[in-house]
Amino acid sequence: MDWGLENRLAKIINPRNNRALMLAVDHGYFLGPTEKLENPKKTITPLLKYCDSLMLTRGVQRNSVDPTTSVPMVLRVSGGSSIIGEDLSQEQITVSMKDALRLNASAVAMSMFVGSKFENQTIVNLGRLVNEAEEYGIPVLAVTAVGKDLGKDARYLSLACRIAAEQGAHVVKTYYCDHFEKVVNSCPVPIIVAGGKKIPERDAMQLTYNSIKGGAVGVDMGRNIWQSQNPVPMIRAIRSIVHGNANVEQAFKLYTDLCRENKSLKQQNKPKNQHKIKSNKANSNKSKTPSGN
Ligand code: R5P
Repeated sequence: MDWGLENRLAKIINPRNNRALMLAVDHGYFLGPTEKLENPKKTITPLLKYCDSLMLTRGVQRNSVDPTTSVPMVLRVSGGSSIIGEDLSQEQITVSMKDALRLNASAVAMSMFVGSKFENQTIVNLGRLVNEAEEYGIPVLAVTAVGKDLGKDARYLSLACRIAAEQGAHVVKTYYCDHFEKVVNSCPVPIIVAGGKKIPERDAMQLTYNSIKGGAVGVDMGRNIWQSQNPVPMIRAIRSIVHGNANVEQAFKLYTDLCRENKSLKQQNKPKNQHKIKSNKANSNKSKTPSGN
Protein backbone atom coordinates (compact mmCIF):
# COMPACT_ATOMS: atom_id res chain seq x y z
CA MET A 1 0.00 0.00 0.00
CA ASP A 2 1.28 3.44 -0.90
CA TRP A 3 2.55 5.58 2.00
CA GLY A 4 -0.03 8.32 1.45
CA LEU A 5 -2.90 5.89 1.31
CA GLU A 6 -1.73 4.06 4.41
CA ASN A 7 -1.23 7.32 6.27
CA ARG A 8 -4.73 8.57 5.39
CA LEU A 9 -6.27 5.25 6.35
CA ALA A 10 -4.49 5.43 9.72
CA LYS A 11 -6.28 8.70 10.39
CA ILE A 12 -9.64 6.97 10.04
CA ILE A 13 -8.92 3.59 11.58
CA ASN A 14 -6.66 4.01 14.59
CA PRO A 15 -3.69 1.68 13.97
CA ARG A 16 -3.10 1.27 17.72
CA ASN A 17 -6.32 -0.62 18.31
CA ASN A 18 -7.69 -1.04 14.77
CA ARG A 19 -10.89 0.81 15.75
CA ALA A 20 -12.84 3.66 14.22
CA LEU A 21 -15.59 6.00 15.30
CA MET A 22 -16.89 7.85 12.26
CA LEU A 23 -19.65 10.41 12.69
CA ALA A 24 -21.99 10.34 9.70
CA VAL A 25 -23.63 13.63 8.74
CA ASP A 26 -23.94 13.14 4.97
CA HIS A 27 -27.66 12.35 5.01
CA GLY A 28 -28.71 15.62 3.38
CA TYR A 29 -27.26 14.53 0.05
CA PHE A 30 -30.48 12.71 -0.73
CA LEU A 31 -32.71 13.40 2.31
CA GLY A 32 -32.41 17.19 2.41
CA PRO A 33 -32.84 18.75 5.87
CA THR A 34 -33.14 15.58 7.95
CA GLU A 35 -34.54 15.94 11.48
CA LYS A 36 -31.87 17.30 13.87
CA LEU A 37 -29.53 17.95 10.95
CA GLU A 38 -31.39 20.98 9.68
CA ASN A 39 -28.50 23.16 10.78
CA PRO A 40 -25.42 20.95 10.27
CA LYS A 41 -23.01 23.32 12.01
CA LYS A 42 -25.11 23.33 15.18
CA THR A 43 -25.32 19.53 15.14
CA ILE A 44 -21.68 18.85 14.30
CA THR A 45 -19.83 21.39 16.47
CA PRO A 46 -20.38 19.86 19.95
CA LEU A 47 -19.75 16.31 18.65
CA LEU A 48 -16.61 16.92 16.65
CA LYS A 49 -14.09 16.36 19.41
CA TYR A 50 -15.47 12.91 20.23
CA CYS A 51 -15.26 11.32 16.76
CA ASP A 52 -12.24 9.98 14.88
CA SER A 53 -13.52 11.19 11.52
CA LEU A 54 -16.48 12.96 9.99
CA MET A 55 -18.38 11.63 6.97
CA LEU A 56 -19.99 14.43 5.03
CA THR A 57 -20.56 16.14 1.69
CA ARG A 58 -18.42 18.95 0.33
CA GLY A 59 -21.25 21.45 0.84
CA VAL A 60 -21.50 20.69 4.54
CA GLN A 61 -17.72 20.59 4.91
CA ARG A 62 -17.26 24.02 3.34
CA ASN A 63 -20.20 25.68 5.06
CA SER A 64 -20.47 24.00 8.43
CA VAL A 65 -17.05 22.80 9.57
CA ASP A 66 -14.27 25.00 10.89
CA PRO A 67 -11.30 24.56 8.51
CA THR A 68 -8.86 24.68 11.46
CA THR A 69 -10.18 21.35 12.75
CA SER A 70 -7.79 18.42 12.96
CA VAL A 71 -10.59 15.87 12.51
CA PRO A 72 -10.14 13.89 9.26
CA MET A 73 -12.86 14.16 6.64
CA VAL A 74 -14.44 11.25 4.78
CA LEU A 75 -15.93 12.96 1.78
CA ARG A 76 -19.04 11.59 0.09
CA VAL A 77 -18.46 11.93 -3.63
CA SER A 78 -21.61 10.23 -4.97
CA GLY A 79 -25.15 11.49 -5.40
CA GLY A 80 -27.77 12.23 -7.98
CA SER A 81 -30.98 10.94 -6.48
CA SER A 82 -33.40 12.12 -3.81
CA ILE A 83 -35.83 10.54 -1.42
CA ILE A 84 -38.76 11.70 -3.59
CA GLY A 85 -37.17 10.67 -6.88
CA GLU A 86 -37.75 7.52 -8.87
CA ASP A 87 -34.86 5.36 -7.77
CA LEU A 88 -32.35 5.98 -5.02
CA SER A 89 -29.82 3.70 -6.65
CA GLN A 90 -29.34 6.00 -9.65
CA GLU A 91 -26.16 7.59 -8.33
CA GLN A 92 -23.11 8.95 -10.08
CA ILE A 93 -19.80 10.34 -8.92
CA THR A 94 -20.46 14.05 -8.39
CA VAL A 95 -17.17 15.31 -6.93
CA SER A 96 -13.82 15.38 -8.72
CA MET A 97 -10.67 14.00 -7.13
CA LYS A 98 -9.19 17.50 -7.49
CA ASP A 99 -11.89 18.90 -5.26
CA ALA A 100 -11.48 16.04 -2.79
CA LEU A 101 -7.78 16.96 -2.56
CA ARG A 102 -8.62 20.64 -2.18
CA LEU A 103 -10.84 19.65 0.74
CA ASN A 104 -8.00 17.61 2.19
CA ALA A 105 -10.15 14.46 2.24
CA SER A 106 -8.70 11.57 4.20
CA ALA A 107 -10.98 9.22 2.25
CA VAL A 108 -13.73 9.41 -0.34
CA ALA A 109 -17.02 7.55 -0.01
CA MET A 110 -19.69 6.41 -2.43
CA SER A 111 -22.73 4.16 -2.34
CA MET A 112 -22.97 0.92 -4.22
CA PHE A 113 -26.39 -0.65 -4.79
CA VAL A 114 -26.01 -4.39 -5.34
CA GLY A 115 -29.22 -6.02 -6.57
CA SER A 116 -30.80 -2.75 -7.64
CA LYS A 117 -31.81 -1.40 -11.03
CA PHE A 118 -28.58 0.61 -11.23
CA GLU A 119 -26.30 -2.07 -9.81
CA ASN A 120 -24.02 -2.07 -12.86
CA GLN A 121 -23.63 1.71 -12.89
CA THR A 122 -22.73 1.94 -9.22
CA ILE A 123 -20.31 -0.99 -9.25
CA VAL A 124 -18.52 0.34 -12.34
CA ASN A 125 -18.40 3.78 -10.71
CA LEU A 126 -16.79 2.24 -7.64
CA GLY A 127 -14.08 0.63 -9.77
CA ARG A 128 -13.45 3.95 -11.55
CA LEU A 129 -13.32 5.86 -8.29
CA VAL A 130 -10.73 3.40 -6.93
CA ASN A 131 -8.63 3.89 -10.12
CA GLU A 132 -8.60 7.63 -9.60
CA ALA A 133 -8.25 7.65 -5.82
CA GLU A 134 -5.32 5.20 -5.89
CA GLU A 135 -3.45 7.65 -8.12
CA TYR A 136 -3.50 10.19 -5.30
CA GLY A 137 -3.24 7.82 -2.35
CA ILE A 138 -6.79 8.40 -1.16
CA PRO A 139 -8.69 5.48 0.40
CA VAL A 140 -12.18 4.65 -0.84
CA LEU A 141 -15.03 3.79 1.49
CA ALA A 142 -17.75 1.80 -0.26
CA VAL A 143 -21.18 2.18 1.30
CA THR A 144 -23.22 -0.95 0.66
CA ALA A 145 -26.63 0.60 0.30
CA VAL A 146 -29.60 -1.72 0.40
CA GLY A 147 -32.40 -1.43 -2.17
CA LYS A 148 -35.84 -1.10 -0.63
CA ASP A 149 -36.92 -4.65 -1.52
CA LEU A 150 -33.78 -6.34 -0.24
CA GLY A 151 -33.20 -7.71 3.23
CA LYS A 152 -30.23 -6.73 5.34
CA ASP A 153 -29.20 -10.33 5.94
CA ALA A 154 -25.79 -11.99 6.00
CA ARG A 155 -26.26 -13.54 2.57
CA TYR A 156 -26.96 -10.26 0.84
CA LEU A 157 -24.55 -8.13 2.89
CA SER A 158 -21.64 -10.52 2.41
CA LEU A 159 -22.31 -10.48 -1.34
CA ALA A 160 -22.31 -6.67 -1.40
CA CYS A 161 -19.25 -6.28 0.86
CA ARG A 162 -17.23 -8.82 -1.06
CA ILE A 163 -18.05 -7.19 -4.39
CA ALA A 164 -17.00 -3.80 -2.98
CA ALA A 165 -13.69 -5.23 -1.79
CA GLU A 166 -13.12 -7.00 -5.12
CA GLN A 167 -13.52 -3.65 -6.87
CA GLY A 168 -10.74 -2.31 -4.67
CA ALA A 169 -12.57 -0.46 -1.88
CA HIS A 170 -10.26 0.02 1.10
CA VAL A 171 -13.02 0.06 3.71
CA VAL A 172 -16.61 -1.17 3.41
CA LYS A 173 -19.55 0.18 5.28
CA THR A 174 -22.46 -2.14 5.89
CA TYR A 175 -25.16 -3.05 8.39
CA TYR A 176 -25.03 -5.33 11.37
CA CYS A 177 -27.02 -8.54 10.91
CA ASP A 178 -27.42 -12.05 12.34
CA HIS A 179 -24.37 -14.18 11.46
CA PHE A 180 -22.39 -10.97 10.98
CA GLU A 181 -19.11 -12.94 11.25
CA LYS A 182 -19.93 -14.44 7.85
CA VAL A 183 -19.95 -10.93 6.36
CA VAL A 184 -16.66 -10.00 8.08
CA ASN A 185 -14.87 -13.26 7.32
CA SER A 186 -15.60 -13.14 3.62
CA CYS A 187 -14.55 -9.52 3.19
CA PRO A 188 -10.78 -8.97 2.95
CA VAL A 189 -10.91 -5.27 3.94
CA PRO A 190 -12.07 -3.59 7.18
CA ILE A 191 -15.80 -3.32 7.78
CA ILE A 192 -17.46 -0.40 9.52
CA VAL A 193 -21.10 -0.58 10.59
CA ALA A 194 -23.79 2.04 9.85
CA GLY A 195 -26.09 2.96 12.70
CA GLY A 196 -29.33 3.00 10.69
CA LYS A 197 -32.63 4.51 11.79
CA LYS A 198 -32.97 5.93 15.29
CA ILE A 199 -33.51 3.21 17.89
CA PRO A 200 -33.41 3.46 21.70
CA GLU A 201 -29.97 4.50 22.99
CA ARG A 202 -29.27 1.25 24.73
CA ASP A 203 -30.09 -0.72 21.56
CA ALA A 204 -27.70 1.44 19.54
CA MET A 205 -25.01 0.69 22.13
CA GLN A 206 -25.78 -3.01 21.83
CA LEU A 207 -25.50 -2.75 18.04
CA THR A 208 -22.09 -1.10 18.41
CA TYR A 209 -20.91 -3.71 20.90
CA ASN A 210 -22.13 -6.61 18.74
CA SER A 211 -20.55 -5.13 15.62
CA ILE A 212 -17.15 -4.88 17.28
CA LYS A 213 -17.42 -8.32 18.83
CA GLY A 214 -18.38 -9.61 15.38
CA GLY A 215 -15.20 -8.20 13.84
CA ALA A 216 -16.09 -4.71 12.58
CA VAL A 217 -13.47 -2.00 13.14
CA GLY A 218 -16.14 0.32 14.44
CA VAL A 219 -19.22 2.30 13.52
CA ASP A 220 -20.11 5.05 11.11
CA MET A 221 -23.05 6.34 13.10
CA GLY A 222 -25.30 9.30 12.45
CA ARG A 223 -28.96 9.39 13.49
CA ASN A 224 -28.48 7.30 16.61
CA ILE A 225 -26.11 9.97 17.85
CA TRP A 226 -27.49 13.32 16.74
CA GLN A 227 -31.17 12.36 16.86
CA SER A 228 -30.72 11.31 20.49
CA GLN A 229 -32.11 13.74 23.08
CA ASN A 230 -28.55 13.77 24.44
CA PRO A 231 -26.11 13.69 21.51
CA VAL A 232 -22.90 14.38 23.46
CA PRO A 233 -23.50 11.74 26.17
CA MET A 234 -24.51 9.37 23.36
CA ILE A 235 -21.35 9.80 21.27
CA ARG A 236 -19.24 9.51 24.41
CA ALA A 237 -20.96 6.27 25.35
CA ILE A 238 -20.47 4.88 21.83
CA ARG A 239 -16.83 5.97 22.00
CA SER A 240 -16.38 4.10 25.28
CA ILE A 241 -17.42 0.89 23.49
CA VAL A 242 -15.33 1.49 20.37
CA HIS A 243 -12.17 2.73 22.05
CA GLY A 244 -12.56 1.94 25.74
CA ASN A 245 -13.72 -1.67 25.40
CA ALA A 246 -16.77 -0.86 27.53
CA ASN A 247 -19.65 -3.30 27.54
CA VAL A 248 -23.25 -2.17 27.06
CA GLU A 249 -23.92 -1.85 30.82
CA GLN A 250 -20.86 0.35 31.30
CA ALA A 251 -21.62 2.47 28.25
CA PHE A 252 -25.23 2.96 29.26
CA LYS A 253 -24.17 3.94 32.78
CA LEU A 254 -21.76 6.51 31.32
CA TYR A 255 -24.61 7.82 29.17
CA THR A 256 -27.03 8.21 32.09
CA ASP A 257 -24.34 9.73 34.34
CA LEU A 258 -23.47 12.30 31.67
CA CYS A 259 -27.14 13.10 31.07
CA ARG A 260 -27.61 13.64 34.82
CA GLU A 261 -24.51 15.87 34.93
CA ASN A 262 -25.81 17.93 32.01
CA LYS A 263 -29.19 18.33 33.66
CA SER A 264 -27.75 19.50 36.93
CA LEU A 265 -25.37 21.88 35.09
CA LYS A 266 -28.33 23.37 33.23
CA GLN A 267 -30.19 23.78 36.51
CA GLN A 268 -27.18 25.44 38.13
CA ASN A 269 -26.88 27.82 35.21
CA LYS A 270 -30.50 28.93 35.42
CA PRO A 271 -30.67 32.48 36.83
CA LYS A 272 -31.09 32.13 40.61
CA ASN A 273 -33.65 34.92 40.91
CA GLN A 274 -35.80 33.55 38.09
CA HIS A 275 -38.77 33.47 40.42
CA LYS A 276 -38.18 37.13 41.27
CA ILE A 277 -37.82 38.02 37.60
CA LYS A 278 -41.09 36.28 36.82
CA SER A 279 -43.01 38.03 39.61
CA ASN A 280 -41.50 41.42 38.67
CA LYS A 281 -42.59 40.80 35.09
CA ALA A 282 -46.09 39.96 36.27
CA ASN A 283 -46.21 43.21 38.28
CA SER A 284 -44.94 45.29 35.40
CA ASN A 285 -47.46 43.64 33.08
CA LYS A 286 -50.20 44.59 35.49
CA SER A 287 -49.29 48.21 35.05
CA LYS A 288 -49.51 47.95 31.28
CA THR A 289 -52.59 49.08 29.39
CA PRO A 290 -54.61 46.41 27.58
CA SER A 291 -52.93 47.47 24.35
CA GLY A 292 -49.54 46.63 25.91
CA ASN A 293 -48.14 50.15 26.07
C1 R5P B 1 -26.55 7.16 4.28
O1 R5P B 1 -27.35 7.96 3.94
C2 R5P B 1 -25.32 7.63 4.78
O2 R5P B 1 -24.23 7.12 4.11
C3 R5P B 1 -25.11 7.54 6.27
O3 R5P B 1 -23.84 8.04 6.47
C4 R5P B 1 -25.19 6.17 6.89
O4 R5P B 1 -26.42 5.59 6.67
C5 R5P B 1 -24.84 6.19 8.38
O5 R5P B 1 -25.69 6.98 9.08
P1 R5P B 1 -26.80 6.37 10.05
O6 R5P B 1 -26.06 5.88 11.25
O7 R5P B 1 -27.72 7.51 10.38
O8 R5P B 1 -27.47 5.26 9.32
